[in-house]
Amino acid sequence: MKVVILGSGRGSNAEAILLAQEAGQLGRARVVQLLSDKPDAGILALGERFGVPATYVDPAPFKTKLEGAGEERFVAAIRECGAELIVLAGFMRVLKPVFLAAFAGKIINLHPSLLPAFPGLDGIGQAWRRGVKYAGCTVHGVTAEVDGGPIIDQAIVRLEASDTLEALTEKIHAAEHVLLPKVIARLSVQKA
Ligand code: GAR
Repeated sequence: MKVVILGSGRGSNAEAILLAQEAGQLGRARVVQLLSDKPDAGILALGERFGVPATYVDPAPFKTKLEGAGEERFVAAIRECGAELIVLAGFMRVLKPVFLAAFAGKIINLHPSLLPAFPGLDGIGQAWRRGVKYAGCTVHGVTAEVDGGPIIDQAIVRLEASDTLEALTEKIHAAEHVLLPKVIARLSVQKA
């Protein structure tokens, strides 16, 4: 199963997926392309290290959503690499109908909270400020409702009284790095 990873940031989840692949722990999935809407995103630097094509795609004209010409450029890039699964790993743009229709049922997103709690921006900070005792992360199917698609799997972390926001952030990231590769591996086997 060919996989494309889309990210806007440091790419630690893409790195976890590629490490799982190197270790033979990604089932029948194979990452064939990394794409970013930010030319200097850390995720693009992983391409050379892991021998996977990594490409910046211009997302213009919008700042926070993918629509219009930028959306069409992303759709074309994904079609070109033949991906059967599109993994959003820190891709910080709202997807719109053209993209969603092009890859319906094939897009998954990682979110740093136990959805449906704390959707949207800064899921970790939202949970922290609310004073939860358990937090975590979610992998879900992507639909037009932001962070509202079907939940595929989740991982839970417990907050200790001594935990700072930084400690919680680290715990959630560590949980994400295990959860997302595991879900991809499982989906690849189910689809085979
Ligand atoms: C991850 O924590 C992911 O859950 C979050 O962005 C981070 C990306 O980190 N995604 C969202 O907040 C989406 N709403 P990474 O670039 O190191 O993988």
